[in-house]
Amino acid sequence: MNRQWLYANPPRGKLAAETFQWHEAPIPQPRDGEVLVRTRMLSLDPANRAWMMGKTYRDALEPGQVMSGFAIGEVVESKSAGLTPGDIVEGDWGWQDYAALPAARLTQRTIAAPLELLIGPLSVTGLTAYFGLLEVGQPKPGDTVLVSAAAGAVGSMVGQIARLAGCRVVGTAGGQDKCDWLARELGFDAAVDYKAAGLRRAIAAACPGGVDVYFDNTGGPVLEAALSLMNLRGRIVCCGNVSQYDVERPAPGPMAVPGLVVTKRLRMEGFIVMDFYDQRAEAERRLKRWVDEGRLKAIVDMVDGLEKAPEALIGLFEGRNRGKMAVRVG
Ligand SMILES: NC(=O)c1ccc[n+]([C@@H]2O[C@H](COP(=O)([O-])OP(=O)(O)OC[C@H]3O[C@@H](n4cnc5c(N)ncnc54)[C@H](OP(=O)(O)O)[C@@H]3O)[C@@H](O)[C@H]2O)c1
Repeated sequence: MNRQWLYANPPRGKLAAETFQWHEAPIPQPRDGEVLVRTRMLSLDPANRAWMMGKTYRDALEPGQVMSGFAIGEVVESKSAGLTPGDIVEGDWGWQDYAALPAARLTQRTIAAPLELLIGPLSVTGLTAYFGLLEVGQPKPGDTVLVSAAAGAVGSMVGQIARLAGCRVVGTAGGQDKCDWLARELGFDAAVDYKAAGLRRAIAAACPGGVDVYFDNTGGPVLEAALSLMNLRGRIVCCGNVSQYDVERPAPGPMAVPGLVVTKRLRMEGFIVMDFYDQRAEAERRLKRWVDEGRLKAIVDMVDGLEKAPEALIGLFEGRNRGKMAVRVG
């Protein structure tokens, strides 16, 4: 049987167990031009929740669909000339054991690395950190880089890449334990608990020379505090808005936009990682070299079992993860 999680009930406010429904269906048969893929790992992403809010850079999820999500798997049967059984592929085929889909919707992974790296650090997560920071943020040695959700998948890599680029790195994360971990294990120069009182004051103390690049994973209060601490001609990399995904109605943006953007001559720029996929191969080679040389720690928070996927995604919004949250299937 093909075990699946369906997107059953649109959440009102926070995700809940009832958002999802367990389902078992026959294993699908691939048609001409398609392959049958067996899922090995699922990537859990804040975007999974954002897709329930309406159209984003992709269509919104519809109740009754198999829950969407990025995955890595193995081709077990092929009716397409380009792929053969045993090939490792990635794509968005959702929370299920098997999927039959056109080979054109899959990307073959040929880089020699464990699946734990291919599900995030050497794929969407690592590439988001790499392109967002280096291409959009344009950090220079000596700059101060501030990153929010710093103990998460993208944030933990942004901070380390910024250090490799010769920057001073400050992160924000939920709780003192995570902040201590960022400084101790990942080499952050300072970290601020955004859940504690006095957020702006604490970031100001951690960034005495102001902020040159703010890598924004969260929006919300951290963005508001960062805006007021940006240096002249600073860059704000708009990567995501995780503080506003798991809510009934997103809060309006900070009062300081556009005022401070004008007076400080800031550049505030959004991006989607796929925008840079023409440079993907080179970026992955560099990320892998840094990991192999021990200069970049790829932290993966693995959950075992497809049945745990909803609970794990709910946990992502409670900050239960450190680094990349993924689910090992089967
Ligand atoms: N633009 C792109 O192409 C692209 C690609 C991938 C991801 N993204 C974005 O990158 C961001 C990070 O994604 P990720 O995959 O690396 O997830 P992640 O950071 O591993 O997980 C989400 C983290 O957000 C934090 N969080 C939850 N609720 C929060 C709130 N109300 N305020 C502040 N922080 C909160 C939690 O950590 P705490 O314990 O610190 O609260 C949690 O660990 C997201 O906004 C995502 O949408 C963008």
